[in-house]
Amino acid sequence: MVKEYKIAVIPGDGTGPEVVREGIKVLESVSKKYGFNLNFVNFNIGGGHYKATGEILPDGVLESLADHDAIYLGAIGHPDVKPGILEKGILLNLRFHFDQYINLRPIKLYEGVDTPLKDKGPDDIDFAVIRENTEGIYAGAGGCLKKGTPDEVAVQESINTRKGVERCVRYAFEYCRKRNKAKKLTLCGKTNVLTYAFDLWERTFYEIAEEYPDIETDYAHVDAICMWMVKNPEWFDVIVTDNMFGDIITDLAAMIQGGMGIAAGGNINPEGLSMFEPIGGSAPKYTGKNIINPIAAILAAQILLDTIGEHKASDSVEKSVINVLRDNIKDSAAGKMGYTTEEVGDLVVENIE
Ligand code: IPM
Ligand code: MN
Repeated sequence: MVKEYKIAVIPGDGTGPEVVREGIKVLESVSKKYGFNLNFVNFNIGGGHYKATGEILPDGVLESLADHDAIYLGAIGHPDVKPGILEKGILLNLRFHFDQYINLRPIKLYEGVDTPLKDKGPDDIDFAVIRENTEGIYAGAGGCLKKGTPDEVAVQESINTRKGVERCVRYAFEYCRKRNKAKKLTLCGKTNVLTYAFDLWERTFYEIAEEYPDIETDYAHVDAICMWMVKNPEWFDVIVTDNMFGDIITDLAAMIQGGMGIAAGGNINPEGLSMFEPIGGSAPKYTGKNIINPIAAILAAQILLDTIGEHKASDSVEKSVINVLRDNIKDSAAGKMGYTTEEVGDLVVENIE
């Protein structure tokens, strides 16, 4: 029997629809070659929909999304919407609602892609960040008093639960084992200052480590991680960290792998519904110009395939991307690729074996 998957697509705002279109083109082509069916269902969610209707998440949309095997997301963001509304109302809401407790961000410098790091190449930049995705400062615990007065108080607390930390750390050990490269897992924290939160992380990390004698463990403070990631990125294999630190270090990491046109990630619930997205935002200034790089969205689709279990198809998409980056694309930045958005999608399709 041919395997069937239902994929919910949220093209979203700005360049989201343009890059998602290329990702779907690649997914359709690879699914035909590898003998499975993907049924795409579009969801009109985002800043555009919010501006037009005042609705952040349309009624019943969470229930409808739940009936899918994966979510494929373009970008959410609108220049005229106050920061926080769409982020909390849509992106974080989906992550929390579907308990996507892992944010997986592979960081790989592909051949032919420029890195701002001097004397570093594809052999040096190949690691993954596992970011906790449902807790920490992002949980939204806190509040303010006497707002707008000289006595104003603002509190925003980091929530770290044993369960939340443990399942993230365990996922990271498993991922590191499966990845089977240097087999080294680095905990990124701040045990010298955040002595409650990262004490929990550190104890959990070393307890779980006993179950993984094949994995080498390491610890580094988040500020030091930023330093080493620039100076010695080859030291890293897999990094595990909390939500806020993970957010920050993965933007740094995205830049050393070639930038927003390349970086992709997955919001993963290993037991449930996961969501895949290019890391770059909605890029309003490039919208509709057919010049944005769709590779990040195509790599998000590739992680999607891997996560739903279509490993061969996923490998084949990655191989094709490797060829296209090495042999065709001149520069990964928008407008400098030497090809349009659509042509890059076509090239990836043509290179699929
Ligand atoms: C990311 C983004 C989001 C985050 C924003 C848009 C809420 O920066 O996916 O990294 O902070 O997690
Ligand atoms: Mn971010």
